[in-house]
Amino acid sequence: MAALLYSALIGCSADASALPSASIVSTVGNQVVLPCSWKPPLGEVAPPDCHIVWSTLVDTVFERRGVVRWEADEFQGRLEVPEERLRSGNCSLIIRDVQIADTGSYESFMVVNGARSKKTRVSLQTVKLSVYDHKTYQSHHPGEDFVLQLYTQHSMSVVFQGRDSSVWTDVWLREEGNSERVVKHPLLQQLTMRKVQHTDEGVYKVLDENGLAVSTVQLTVEENPAPSRQFRTQENIPTDVAASSSGSALLILPLLVCSLQIVRLV
Ligand SMILES: *[C@@H]1O[C@H](CO)[C@@H](O)[C@H](O)[C@H]1NC(C)=O
Repeated sequence: MAALLYSALIGCSADASALPSASIVSTVGNQVVLPCSWKPPLGEVAPPDCHIVWSTLVDTVFERRGVVRWEADEFQGRLEVPEERLRSGNCSLIIRDVQIADTGSYESFMVVNGARSKKTRVSLQTVKLSVYDHKTYQSHHPGEDFVLQLYTQHSMSVVFQGRDSSVWTDVWLREEGNSERVVKHPLLQQLTMRKVQHTDEGVYKVLDENGLAVSTVQLTVEENPAPSRQFRTQENIPTDVAASSSGSALLILPLLVCSLQIVRLV
């Protein structure tokens, strides 16, 4: 019995040749994997009480000992080290729906039970995680719908600054739900602003519960309503070509389709 226990404890000992430190970069809302591995002794199935700890410089964020797991409040429902993977030597930490505030340094440890219930923490891996916000541009014609991604359920509000304005106004608050013009998709983390107008032009910021920017979208509302296809085609003709073709409708189409070489032949 004692011998069994002893080998079990040895089984939990960490491999000294730990991985070098890693860097992981992501944008908000994605899943990331902070890599970590340890080596169970050859030919042995690691015991279920292997105790893995992931922590930041400040706090412990995740622990697993066999089937028992614990995670810090600020990561509620977002962390995992799958037990079966841990037993086969993979102590990688999965972080779902990664947030700006998750940015920082992480370190994994294997807690090893020594003689007389003395515990030692063996460092396995350090990982630097950087989480960035999204930055995009969108252009619409008046009357079109503007779809704004929220990226994560932790996005709490959207604020707007008009083109010639210096103030930020609320466009959407999660706690208040939909308004007449701004509607959240029932399942997806996205908003639709109906029928944009000129006055909607400007910068939209999606903010999380810490007030950090998850996303910044620059919206341009173009001067003229979308012209019809025919009208647009004519607009696209270079002026010199249009002039040399003397407005012949028969010539316009081939000129558009073919290269300038054909223009020279004509
Ligand atoms: C370790 O597990 C993570 C997820 O838990 C997975 O993404 C990764 O590919 C695994 N690594 C290896 C070497 O199997």
